[in-house]
Amino acid sequence: MPPVNLPPLGTPLSDAALRVMLLGAGELGKEVIIALQRLGAEVIAVDRYEHAPGQQVAHRAHVIDMTDPQALRALVLAERPHLIVPEIEAIATQALLDIEAEGLAEVIPTARAAQLTMNREGIRRLAAEELGLPTSPYAFAESLDELRGAIDAGIGYPCVVKPVMSSSGKGQSVLRGPQDLQPAWDYAMAGGRVQLPRVIVEGFIDFDYEITQLTVRAAQAPGEVGTFFCEPIGHLQERGDYIESWQPQPMSPRALERSREISGRVTAALGGRGVFGVELFVRGDDVWFSEVSPRPHDTGLVTLCSQRQSEFELHARAILGLPVDTALREPGASAVIYGGVDARALRFEGVAQALAVPRADLRLFGKPESFARRRMGVALAAGEDIEQARERARRVAATVRPVAA
Ligand SMILES: Nc1ncnc2c1ncn2[C@@H]1O[C@H](COP(=O)(O)OP(=O)(O)OP(=O)(O)O)[C@@H](O)[C@H]1O
Ligand SMILES: [Mg+2]
Repeated sequence: MPPVNLPPLGTPLSDAALRVMLLGAGELGKEVIIALQRLGAEVIAVDRYEHAPGQQVAHRAHVIDMTDPQALRALVLAERPHLIVPEIEAIATQALLDIEAEGLAEVIPTARAAQLTMNREGIRRLAAEELGLPTSPYAFAESLDELRGAIDAGIGYPCVVKPVMSSSGKGQSVLRGPQDLQPAWDYAMAGGRVQLPRVIVEGFIDFDYEITQLTVRAAQAPGEVGTFFCEPIGHLQERGDYIESWQPQPMSPRALERSREISGRVTAALGGRGVFGVELFVRGDDVWFSEVSPRPHDTGLVTLCSQRQSEFELHARAILGLPVDTALREPGASAVIYGGVDARALRFEGVAQALAVPRADLRLFGKPESFARRRMGVALAAGEDIEQARERARRVAATVRPVAA
C-alpha cells in the first residue's frame, strides 16, 4: 500500500492541519498523542470515559461509546480526521471498514487488521490456517460441553481458556484437569467483552520465555513500505497482565530469525503502516505465534528508555509516512505500578526517592480513578545490562506508593 494520501504536516487548529483521531486514549494512546503533537499534528482523543490519559494532552477530547457504529461515524464526519488510529480492540470495526472504503479517512494500520485482531478467532485462523504459522493447538467452543469435547478430542490438559473477545487476561484461565472446566467456563463468560458465549481453548505452551517482537511497517522509499524490527522485548505476565518488561531479550540466532520471519509474515498479511506488537512464545529454537496487536504494545513501554525512538514515536512516524529508526540505544526495563487501592483519586508518595535511582524514569498516567489492579503508572530504567535495568525498574516501582487521596 502506498504512503500516503496525506496532506503535509501543517499548523494545528488551522485549515492546514493534519488531523489524527485516536480511538482509545489510555496510557499508550497518550504517548502516541505526545509524539504526534511534537510533529505538529492536530490530535483528537476519543474514549469511553472522561479525562482518559490521552484526552488530557490532546487538542480535543470526546467521550462516546466506540462500539456504537452510528456514534463513531457521526464523530468522524464531524471531525474529519485524515487518520484514525485505534488504540483499543473494542471498536465498531464495521464502521471503520465503511469509513475506509468510502475514503473518508485512513484507518491505521487497516480497518481489516482492526477487525481481525479484535477477535481471537480472526487472527488465530489467519495466522495458523492461512499463513501456516506455528501456534498452540486450539479449538473454539460455545458451551461447556463443546469445551470439554474439544479438550478430550485432542487439546488435552493443561490448556488455556479465553473469551474470544477480551484483553489483559480478563476471563482467562489455565486448566490442569477436568475439575477446572466449570470454573474456567464461568470465568470466561463473566470476563468477555461482549456477551458472546464463545471461547478459544489453547494447548498450554511450556515456553522458556515469551517476547514481544515490535515490528514496524513504514515508508522506506516513496510509495514503498518496508518492515523494520526492534530488538526483542522479554516480559513477565501475571494473571494475563504484564508486570515487567525488558529489552533486549537474549535469544538464540535461530529463534530470533524465526521470530522475525513470523512477525514479518503476519504483519504483511495485516498490511498498512504502523507499529505491531507480535507476541511469541519461545522454547529453545522453537517459536510459536500467540497474538498480535496492530498498534504499540503495553510491554513496549520499555522503549521509552531503551530505544532511540520509542514505539510511540515509531508509530507516529510510520503512520505519517515518515522514516523510522528502530535501533536500540541501551538495555532497559519497565515495571508496572498498580493502583493498589480502589479510589477516586490518588496521591503518589515516594516519587523523589524513586527518581533518585540511577537512570530511572517514571510515567504516571493520570487516570481519573484507581483500582487495586489498575495500571496507574510505569517505572522505567536503563542499565549496563538487562539485569541491572530490571533491578532498578523494580526498585523504582516499589518506591512509588499510591495512596487514596
Ligand atoms: N497457550 C498458552 N500457553 C502458555 N501460556 C499462555 C498461553 N496463552 C496465553 N498464555 C499466557 O497468558 C498471557 C496472556 O495471554 P494472551 O496474550 O492471549 O491474553 P490477552 O488477554 O490478550 O493479554 P493482553 O491483552 O495483555 O496481551 C500470555 O502472555 C502468556 O503468558
Ligand atoms: Mg497478549
